[in-house]
Amino acid sequence: MSDQPSLLRVRVHAITYEAQGINSYEFRQPDGAELPPFAAGAHIDLHMANGLVRSYSLCNPQTDRHRYVVGIQKDRASRGGSTWVHNRLMVGDFIQVSHPRNNFPLAEDAASTLLVAGGIGITPLFCMVQRLVSIGRKFHLVYCARTRQEAAFRAALETVALPAGSKIEFNWDGEPGGKLLDIGAVVNTLAPGTHVYCCGPLPMLGAFETATASLPRDNVHVEYFTAKDAPAAEGGFTVVLAKAGKSFQIAPGKTILETLLDAGIPLPSSCLEGVCGTCETKVLEGIPDHRDVVLTESERKANKTMMICCSGCKGDKLVLDI
Ligand code: FES
Repeated sequence: MSDQPSLLRVRVHAITYEAQGINSYEFRQPDGAELPPFAAGAHIDLHMANGLVRSYSLCNPQTDRHRYVVGIQKDRASRGGSTWVHNRLMVGDFIQVSHPRNNFPLAEDAASTLLVAGGIGITPLFCMVQRLVSIGRKFHLVYCARTRQEAAFRAALETVALPAGSKIEFNWDGEPGGKLLDIGAVVNTLAPGTHVYCCGPLPMLGAFETATASLPRDNVHVEYFTAKDAPAAEGGFTVVLAKAGKSFQIAPGKTILETLLDAGIPLPSSCLEGVCGTCETKVLEGIPDHRDVVLTESERKANKTMMICCSGCKGDKLVLDI
């Protein structure tokens, strides 16, 4: 794989066992130089030697300028990404990573914050916990995992010095006597103005979205690892590229991104399923059929941008700022 100028070439500085099936991977610049800054909730894309690109949340404090750390679970249903990392990536290896991107930012000035983590979904929330602790903001973390042996960063969370009024609760639903978290019960106790965050498996995210449906939309923050909708590949519409002065008919079975890449138009992309935000494109005209999990509800309604790897068109034509 040749180096892409927008990517950073970093070295695997350390690999640490964090929990059953979960390692953390620390990346540094070979010359020890500072890395581009990031804020809690951000992720980087790993461009793997097997050609796959996968996004992983940063879990180290955002004040770290010399390293990026990601926690990666060896996924039983891996499509090749986490398996490659766990089986092939070694300390001392080089790998290309993207600049950090943040689709899950932390509202640092919220009066209070609820964080709900499921399994490896703890990674961006662990970063947020460290940030909230460092700025002394009150929060409540509920961390769910099947067992405590499968809970990454547990020791650090058990010993962290909490800001006044904060608490961390664990829920081991796979242990004797354990049960699934009642997210509705947690949400019902919230003080007005609380910002709520959730990262975890799809069923948890669905339950969280149902439980928080009546809260102000700007206070609800959800991070998906995988798409919840199938990509729009019905085709049958035209895409006009305003800057390039070209137009393309999107055929059934193809996404907008696939059509444009097939035509030799170089465009940034990564996850190809509407999760990472890399392919976000300005919409100048037309109504997208949004299928991503990056845009908020109000951003979807505004129709100013779209993820062209998975979203389609509700009409006959889209004019894009490409
Ligand atoms: S490539 Fe990740 S959202 Fe489109």
